[in-house]
Amino acid sequence: MAFGLFLTATSCSGDTGEKPVGALVESETPTANIEEATPTQTPTPAPTPKPATTPTLGENPGSSGLGDPYFPTLGNGGYDVEEYDLQLLWDPGSKYLVGEATITAKIVEDLTSLNLDLSGMTVTSVKFEGSNLDFFREDNELIIVFQQPVVKGTMAALEISYQGFPGLVENLNLPHSGGWFNTENMFYVSGEPSSSQAWHPVNDHPDDRAQFRIEFTAIPLVEARTWNWEFVTNGFLVEKTESDVDKSITWIYETRYPRAPYLTVLAYGIFKESEAVTLGDVHLRHWAESPPLPSDIFEAGVETFGHDYHAMFEVFTNLFGPYPFDTYGYLVLNETLGYALETQTLSIFGYDTYQEPNIHVHELAHQWFGNHITVGDWSNIWLNEGFATYAEYLFLEESVPSFSIDDSFFIPMYELVEQGNTFFTQPPPGDPGRDNLFSASVYFRGAMTLHALRLTIGDALFFDSIRGYVEQYGGQSATTNDFIQLVEEATGSDLEEFFNGWLFQDNLPPLQELYD
Ligand code: TRP
Ligand code: ZN
Repeated sequence: MAFGLFLTATSCSGDTGEKPVGALVESETPTANIEEATPTQTPTPAPTPKPATTPTLGENPGSSGLGDPYFPTLGNGGYDVEEYDLQLLWDPGSKYLVGEATITAKIVEDLTSLNLDLSGMTVTSVKFEGSNLDFFREDNELIIVFQQPVVKGTMAALEISYQGFPGLVENLNLPHSGGWFNTENMFYVSGEPSSSQAWHPVNDHPDDRAQFRIEFTAIPLVEARTWNWEFVTNGFLVEKTESDVDKSITWIYETRYPRAPYLTVLAYGIFKESEAVTLGDVHLRHWAESPPLPSDIFEAGVETFGHDYHAMFEVFTNLFGPYPFDTYGYLVLNETLGYALETQTLSIFGYDTYQEPNIHVHELAHQWFGNHITVGDWSNIWLNEGFATYAEYLFLEESVPSFSIDDSFFIPMYELVEQGNTFFTQPPPGDPGRDNLFSASVYFRGAMTLHALRLTIGDALFFDSIRGYVEQYGGQSATTNDFIQLVEEATGSDLEEFFNGWLFQDNLPPLQELYD
């Protein structure tokens, strides 16, 4: 039985003691139920009451948010993180985490203070250029006050020491829980749109991508249950060493490509690595929680469940352009998650979703759409989910000669609407609202929008536009307007009415016109 202690402590500078007002909450498995075929909605949690707090230090510059319309407190203004260097010390016995984060950021406005996002955890010190800085906590904000203003254009390195029992991200009214999950045999971290602030201070928004260096040390358990446990995260393993002194093991992973913070996955438990395969320039290798998962899990992926990564890479590199990173793999847990998540270069699956080949296709497609191109803000979520869902149909079209997207997907969707079933088409996906962030319509009507676009402008211009979009916005974030503008430029036509109807109006645009 795993318990997580959630502390909502407000700590001030120099105050290293905790003031816990939190409750003991049984840590839960995520309530997300994102079966790709039939996503369901979970009930909206009640709003969290705001506690009496320390003063907020102004709007921009150094604001507590990036202006995200759905999650105004995600991310922060005034700076741009280049690297998170995270040193983590984990005690698997008490499930206590001690962390030291060195965050290197480019200051983009003159700042007297700045904010980071952090849920739970107790901050014990903040250092900048050798001195201790004052700091405050307010909900999920860590507010750091500079002694002298830091001017625009400088690089700043902040060292933040923190510790606690990491758990779920709190206070955000997330549509699905995200954060740090302790199970009986391991822990893992995942969640969208937020998970990283449960275990390190962060500018928690997809519009600020950064490099990561993660150094993880696990204290050995007295009964030595953990001697063969592995620590797995995205990026590549630089070093794994065992201490002569206390037999603790340290893993160091680094990234080669910047990533949005919610795309970090961590897992520590009994994990087995597959043999590595090279697909062109891409190094493909997977991880599985095995045992208890079957020892032939990687073979079964191909032989029983039909995950054909060779075919997927071939189809997608042809359609979208080169794979944007140099490694890929899945990480499969012995859990029923009800979802998979496209964590960058290492997508996380439960043993349930692992068995569904189309979900493997979906998560791979997200590496282009969602990860290489991130959303400018969360209202643009269809740019991730609509594209990844449409990619599933494109993969079927390319690999199953008799498959027709029109007959098997697009027209049947209209038939459902005629029968009064709007599960896959409402609300319109262009601005679905925070509580419908992952509604079925974001996935399926998002995919229908792309298919309708293809029917309207023709295959050649459609695929040129998609490749142009990846080329132009890869490594950056994009908005719906960016995409519309790009397609309008590529085709030389005014598509405002088209996109308005598909993405923002209740009714589906008429079917017949698309086939005239
Ligand atoms: N982006 C994921 C996918 O479609 C699904 C997802 C949505 C998710 N919200 C989540 C996964 C929260 C984990 C947690 O592939
Ligand atoms: Zn998805």
